[in-house]
Amino acid sequence: MSIQYDGQRQIFHLKAKTSSYVMQILKGKYLAHLYWGRGLESYHGSRALIWKERSLETNPEPKERTFSLGVLPQEYPQYGNGDFRSCAYGIRNERGSRISSLSYAGHEITKGKPTLPGLPSSFGDETAVDTLTIHMQDEIVGLDVFLIYSVFEEKSVIARSVRFENHSTQNLTLTKMLSMSVDLREDDFDVLTLYGGHNNERNMDRRPLTSGTVQIESLRGTSSPQQSPFMALMRRGADEEQGEIFAASFVYSGNFMATAQVDSFRNIRFQMGMNPWNGEWLLKPGESFQTPEVLMVYSAHGLNEMSHTFHCFFREHLVRSPFVRKERPILLNSWEAAYFDFTEEKLLELAKKAAQAGIELFVLDDGWFGKRDDDTSSLGDWQVDTKKLPGGLAHLEQKIHKLGMQFGLWVEPEMISQNSDLYRQHPDYVLHAEDRPYTYGREQLVLDLSRHEVCAYVVDAMEKVLSQARIDYIKWDMNRQLTEVESSFLEAGQQGEVFHRYVLGLYGIIEKLTARHPEILFESCASGGGRFDAGMLYYMPQTWCSDNTDPVCRMKIQYATSFVFPPVTMGAHVSVAPNHQTGRNTPLSTRAAMAMSANFGYELDLTKCSEEEMREITEQISFYKTIRDTIQRGRFYRVKNPFLENHGAWNFISQDGREVVAFYFEVLCEPAPAIQILKLKGLDEKAYYQELDTGEVYGGDELMYSGISILPEKQDFGSKCFRFQRI
Ligand code: DGJ
Repeated sequence: MSIQYDGQRQIFHLKAKTSSYVMQILKGKYLAHLYWGRGLESYHGSRALIWKERSLETNPEPKERTFSLGVLPQEYPQYGNGDFRSCAYGIRNERGSRISSLSYAGHEITKGKPTLPGLPSSFGDETAVDTLTIHMQDEIVGLDVFLIYSVFEEKSVIARSVRFENHSTQNLTLTKMLSMSVDLREDDFDVLTLYGGHNNERNMDRRPLTSGTVQIESLRGTSSPQQSPFMALMRRGADEEQGEIFAASFVYSGNFMATAQVDSFRNIRFQMGMNPWNGEWLLKPGESFQTPEVLMVYSAHGLNEMSHTFHCFFREHLVRSPFVRKERPILLNSWEAAYFDFTEEKLLELAKKAAQAGIELFVLDDGWFGKRDDDTSSLGDWQVDTKKLPGGLAHLEQKIHKLGMQFGLWVEPEMISQNSDLYRQHPDYVLHAEDRPYTYGREQLVLDLSRHEVCAYVVDAMEKVLSQARIDYIKWDMNRQLTEVESSFLEAGQQGEVFHRYVLGLYGIIEKLTARHPEILFESCASGGGRFDAGMLYYMPQTWCSDNTDPVCRMKIQYATSFVFPPVTMGAHVSVAPNHQTGRNTPLSTRAAMAMSANFGYELDLTKCSEEEMREITEQISFYKTIRDTIQRGRFYRVKNPFLENHGAWNFISQDGREVVAFYFEVLCEPAPAIQILKLKGLDEKAYYQELDTGEVYGGDELMYSGISILPEKQDFGSKCFRFQRI
């Protein structure tokens, strides 16, 4: 059992393979956090809390001036009685009072892990995970709070969430309901977050934590490309290979916040959860509210170990799709090849070229429905445009299947164009404020998924699409963020619920469609990687990483995305040069090396490629097929950091340790270049490896510690791939 409880001292020890998490009930009432870090065999009290009167901190017990909630490392801090740091939850009762205080009321330790109703969440059987539920209570107001910790012993992951129950006779409004709050009693940390925007998702931001609060958030209704729902505290000096990391990833696709707050005694409060701004929830008597979960990962050996923990955990305990262990097909996507301008004939020409080159899946992107000749109309009218596809989807799909390829389709089900039959029939389906004009994004509006009938319409519309043809793959896009987030179908006191109800509505739709169609591979997308989060991955095992396919930009995007997400989850395509987003010309080989480092595909007009280019593409595809298993199911190591250098590099090792693939990328050619040394990672130092191109044999220790010499090319944006086999 990975959860130990010492009843005498009232200490909980959550014990995973390489980490420990310790809490204690003080005075039979307060739940204090004692330790999170490297695994301990047992905890005997070394890190005891030392009581001492601290400045002007306030005290809950009149005669105990040394006991103050303002300095107590708390597990789920409240507001209103002396802890002036960021609270983990907030309530408002009918009197308008926001004060609350929780006392320990019991706990339960169970095998396995409960599912979270309506929400994506990690899973595992009784041998993999144990769950501790601590029951806290605010007797005065009648609120019960259940802190849920599921410990995945082998993976060193704790999944944390909270359930609120109103056992009073009055309405309570939850004004803040974070999923995680941890008080660390040390302060020598940097904060790592992933920021960006469209075409520029997930840049690495590492900054020292000195004073005050570092906070990231999304208020856009999606997890967003601006900030990823991830935060890590890195022990100062920690890097890819060494040093402690405390990381949190949110299994949620809507508004969020993550905070690292330093108090005046140099403790750090580390929090993550739903964003409280316009994020209230009315809890009527007898009702309950469940928060999404946060995955907490501790690494004693730097970022690579943190990433391995996340990657392995996602594969085994989060991505629910039956495709999680299946080989992902190499695809050709029609978007940058044709945009809205295609006919069946043109698509089939493209598909023939793709099939000849060895591509396995043909994806018809935007433009196949309604009167969708540009992005100003038709979202919501999910009937095929027979001007473009006279035989309908089925006719095209059959021809594609006859070419030996699978058939995939793009949809954007959460949206509605004002110029659409759906809008003309149901203007009320739009998410909007009664007395205000719409705000537009790409000239489209968002459906009010907080309403059951709108969700039912979406499920029905998608089922009709899926029933028309044999569809093997769906790209689920979402191209604008949420504004006028109100719903006339909810009471005034519940308008703060719309953001979360939207996400719940979306999850409900996807839950139904993915469960009913396990044969379909789903890929999520939100103008590229605008909703790349663990919540979407639960349902859809891959995500379009970015609309930016320029390998120079992708080097950073894929590097930093891999902090949390495994390469197999990142859609990556070879596109044309000059690149449509950046205008940059890069070698075809480098574009392919970058895309091959993830879930590989193409997105360009193959009918315009020269014979030589087609030969190169055909070779790339057959090469990827030989390394696909290593890339998609192997272990991934970041080697050279493109945020710090003119280079980027990483290597993959197959599950059985026999195959090694390394990619090295250069940004600009330098006038007096240093010979680069590429030191591989994760090999067996006692084993020997043969380089497949040259036949040379090297020791694993040599490849890791001495490294391979690379002579930079006289060319910008060069790349190299090395392949070794263990002998
Ligand atoms: C945004 C996506 O990121 C693109 O890949 C493409 O599918 C377009 N939408 C289509 O409108």
